[in-house]
Amino acid sequence: MKLHPRDVPGVVATVVATAIGLALMVSGSSMAPASGPALAERTRELELGATTESLLVAQLEHQLGTHEAPQLPEGWQELFRDTPNAKGELRAGNDQAIAARLLEGRASYQRNCQHCHGVRGDASTQTAKILLPRPRDFSLGLTKFKQTPGLLPPLREDLHRILEQGVASTAMADFAMLEEAERTTLVDYVQYLLMRGAVESRVAGALQTLAQTDGAQTADPAEVEFRVLEGTRVALEAVGTEWRNAPGTAFTEVPAPADDAAIARGAELYKSAKAGCAQCHGIDGKGRGLGAWDAEHGWILRDVWGNPVRPADFSYGSFHGGGSPEQVYRSISLGIAGTPMAGYAGVLSPSEITDLTHYLRSLSD
Ligand code: HEC
Ligand code: HEC
Repeated sequence: MKLHPRDVPGVVATVVATAIGLALMVSGSSMAPASGPALAERTRELELGATTESLLVAQLEHQLGTHEAPQLPEGWQELFRDTPNAKGELRAGNDQAIAARLLEGRASYQRNCQHCHGVRGDASTQTAKILLPRPRDFSLGLTKFKQTPGLLPPLREDLHRILEQGVASTAMADFAMLEEAERTTLVDYVQYLLMRGAVESRVAGALQTLAQTDGAQTADPAEVEFRVLEGTRVALEAVGTEWRNAPGTAFTEVPAPADDAAIARGAELYKSAKAGCAQCHGIDGKGRGLGAWDAEHGWILRDVWGNPVRPADFSYGSFHGGGSPEQVYRSISLGIAGTPMAGYAGVLSPSEITDLTHYLRSLSD
């Protein structure tokens, strides 16, 4: 294979830039068989060409195994250990134990999750197409309801919470009836799908960007191979680093306790032009604001996965990101990742966000 060391910075820069670009890319969806192509639906839509696709599939399998027989690359194992218990012990002592847990997680995922979230976790299933909200497509490496800001990956704790509690008033039921040990293996496998998806979508996006910027060179097979190899290496490292750093970025601020005055101030602020919440959530908090719903088109907002989103109906009291004061305060401060719900930290003061928190929670009393 012919290497072009001079190109390395180019590949690195493109992989990094793609992380942001891809998450913002909104694409339509097409039907895809449940098994078959080894790449996620979104990657296939990039139409990289048969040679590049098969090189990418081979390289991903070399590093990450297949979805049926997952394996972790160098440096990722430690990310699959749960936080130490009181005695400082880790649930999984060694790499073999983690590999076994991944396989168990895979088996449980097939039984419990695959018909909605898909074989590759990209939610390209028949069931997914008829649900609103759509099941999460894990192939962007991103989830919505989490403690970390922006496009950073969730914490394992966030995935545990979703499995214990489900997402209220959606098709995502809770899996509290499973043993905690089984839920942990599911968290492992979902984390694997998210990390694998993040690597795949980044490398694929970077390859497409490079092909567009210097189309002529990419006819050289050695050049293509080098880009796939180097792009995958860089993405594996970047994704590992993001998961490693995520816990340190978790949002930990808590609101002051509620009182009647705070609720009254929150009610005023909610309706004000300054906060603008009613524009999407509606003046009555039921989610049908002018910016979110109209009689002709229904739900008009979209998330980064290209799916319709509806602002929460606060009169219901079923907060998808968690309904405790701390969780609602966090949802308003950080926003909901990948959706038009932006974070208000920095736009509104902590005491204003506190007032809004207590007001929204009071709507379902
Ligand atoms: C009946 C369909 C269905 C099944 C089965 C299902 N889910 Fe979901 N799942 C959903 C839907 C719908 C959402 C999106 C909810 C939303 O966006 O509010 C979702 C969202 C999620 C999320 C992302 C939440 C976030 O923060 O973005 C995770 C993680 C998840 N599911 C994991 C699982 C796992 C693990 C299983 C199996 C144990 C499973 N799901 C089974 C439909 C399903
Ligand atoms: C541009 C439209 C828009 C504006 C403006 C907006 N939101 Fe949202 N908000 C959304 C959408 C869409 C969601 C749902 C995201 C999802 O679950 O997919 C949401 C979700 C939320 C949630 C999380 C609900 C849950 O289920 O956990 C809270 C809390 C919230 N918004 C509060 C506010 C407040 C307070 C304001 C004003 C300061 C505001 N929003 C402004 C669109 C908006």
